[in-house]
Amino acid sequence: MSIKDCKIIDIPKITDPRGNLSVIEGSVHIPFDIKRVYYLYDVPGGSERGGHAHIELQQLIIAISGSFDVILKDGFETEKFHLNRSYYGLYVPNMIWRELNNFSSGSVCLVFASTFYDEADYIRDYRQFLRKVGESKE
Ligand code: TYD
Repeated sequence: MSIKDCKIIDIPKITDPRGNLSVIEGSVHIPFDIKRVYYLYDVPGGSERGGHAHIELQQLIIAISGSFDVILKDGFETEKFHLNRSYYGLYVPNMIWRELNNFSSGSVCLVFASTFYDEADYIRDYRQFLRKVGESKE
């Protein structure tokens, strides 16, 4: 996968004076069926999360509260996304290295995932990630 496959998805927003509502339907607003949802919260200042890629897993990452940065690498290019709106989702396909940092205090990172949790799907070593990217280009 390439950095160009990573994109901000505008999540539909139903604005209302009583409070706004946003909705995500799997395979409708995002390019995969949702198998799993998890969230990061109570993140201490200066903390870094991520630091891995996935062989199959696709994700949508949302700053549901507060803000943080997501650094994405495809083995050739790097791109940094600053997420700070609950109606923007960052689509991250498989085989993209991700690092999350610069969490604002009280921020919450919500993630929709295309597969159940499987440690065997992780690539946690950056050099191994680069090797795998190289193999797929051969
Ligand atoms: P990890 O995916 O490495 O966190 P992050 O990328 O946000 O820094 O997961 C941290 C720990 O939580 C790791 O021991 C695996 C466990 N975990 C689960 O058990 N289930 C899950 O769905 C996720 C995402 C993580």
